[in-house]
Amino acid sequence: MNRRTFVRNASLLALSLSRRLNAAPALNPDSLTKFVDPLPIPEAARPFGTRPAPGKSAPKVPVYRVAMREIRTKLHRDLPETRLWCYGGSVPGPTLETRSGQGLLVEWANELPAKHFLPIDHSLHGAEADQPESRGVVHVHGARTPPESDGYPEDWYVPGKSRTYFYPNRQDAAILWYHDHAMGINRLNIYAGMFGLFLIRDETEDQLGLPGGKFEIPLVICDRLLRQDGQLDYPVSDDPKKPWVPEVFGNVMLANGKAFPFLDVEPRLYRFRVLNASNGRFLHLNLSNEQKFHQIGTDQGLLPAPVELERSLLAPGERADLLIDFSRSAGERFVLRTDYFDILQFRVAGAAASASVPLPAALRPVPKTPESAAVKTRTLTIIENKSMKGESMSMLLNNTPWHMPVTENPKLGSTEIWTFINTTDDSHPIHLHLVRFQILDRRRFEPFIYQSRGEILYTDPAIPPAPEEAGWKDTVRADPGMVTRIIVKFEGYAGRYVWHCHILEHEDNEMMRPYDVVADSAGLIESKDQQNVGA
Ligand code: C2O
Ligand code: CU
Ligand code: CU
Repeated sequence: MNRRTFVRNASLLALSLSRRLNAAPALNPDSLTKFVDPLPIPEAARPFGTRPAPGKSAPKVPVYRVAMREIRTKLHRDLPETRLWCYGGSVPGPTLETRSGQGLLVEWANELPAKHFLPIDHSLHGAEADQPESRGVVHVHGARTPPESDGYPEDWYVPGKSRTYFYPNRQDAAILWYHDHAMGINRLNIYAGMFGLFLIRDETEDQLGLPGGKFEIPLVICDRLLRQDGQLDYPVSDDPKKPWVPEVFGNVMLANGKAFPFLDVEPRLYRFRVLNASNGRFLHLNLSNEQKFHQIGTDQGLLPAPVELERSLLAPGERADLLIDFSRSAGERFVLRTDYFDILQFRVAGAAASASVPLPAALRPVPKTPESAAVKTRTLTIIENKSMKGESMSMLLNNTPWHMPVTENPKLGSTEIWTFINTTDDSHPIHLHLVRFQILDRRRFEPFIYQSRGEILYTDPAIPPAPEEAGWKDTVRADPGMVTRIIVKFEGYAGRYVWHCHILEHEDNEMMRPYDVVADSAGLIESKDQQNVGA
């Protein structure tokens, strides 16, 4: 079964699974009246003071406190309140916003209940029965963060504890996001609602005159499987000792934590900062009136120029900066969808209250990193082990489970090519912490020959990244039956980081590896590099 048929069948499968295994029946999404709730906009996090940043004679930076909490909230007008875990008091949590080079501190406090409300699989590494059920650790996805503040999966802490992390933000303007990363239960914590946006802005972006203020809309999209009582359902396997399932798909799409919301817009240009926060669903965003739109940025910031699209493909963890022009749709209503699932209705006013802004012709140059800059090429496999019955047992990166010694150890400041050989039937969004990278190409090969003889037999020419992917990325689709190559400069900090598949069920079941950025000469490159970033 390929990814496309899998995705098509998956929500039906998820529904039937949940019906079979759980007492509470699944919600029929058609029973909800569509477009009755306004799209919520997550509040902006506010610092409570300033404190010196870590390091000698470091300047004072704003300090925030964000607590992990259990809440009950309505996902739709007609549903009872849903139990969620979140940051602050909402899903998504409060948006952290800063400028390139403006560091900040966040005290992430764990105020969760002691018991988890979703099914933990104690057979997974790091989630054994002797581990506390309720654990959290926060990672800012896409941030160039020192290792001690990166949210290493094993650095989780229990309710009553907190950690203060430092984010220097020496990087270009981009849509980043924060989320839980606790070993072995990450998929459950994020599914419960533990994520929010982290936006970095800079001067290049300012000068483009992009739609701002109320014309710039953060849009966090995820699917969830809801029961008739409005509660989250997390499907389980039929083995009570190993409840893990390889993928989870919902019956309802949530936009900023609401099912089928609407947004009133004026007939002008809007900017949408879009994140796919789903555990496993790939989004194929399109507009029901078949209108085209523009993508201006990707995971790690602005593209060289706007790219016109009919459909935007976003894997879990990926972001898109989109411009939608409503100026020719005055008085109309249409819907943002993924395939045919409705996400959000736009209600375009008859007249604009303010003048629109033009679509910029050019954005930010993205100089191509030449392959000759790479000092090393690493060949990394993506494989899936199946049982005799064909059920997924585990998926591995480079055939190496999490607890094995580090195998990827790039030098700080060096450039490498990472080649992902995907022999599985699924597309896996591969994410590296700390760094940004460029996609070189994808190329179809013969997986059976590779598995039997270890040889790569290419069957087609290499395909360059699509224009909307040809910017700075931190997550890349490694598509089935393809060899995907990225080129990465390991800038920023030396230390221990991770790389993993961003399908959260895969990540929690061994599709994650530690990696080390190794300092060459006692941090020399580091300090030089830091001065250059954002300049
Ligand atoms: Cu969204 Cu380890 O990442
Ligand atoms: Cu990350
Ligand atoms: Cu995967």
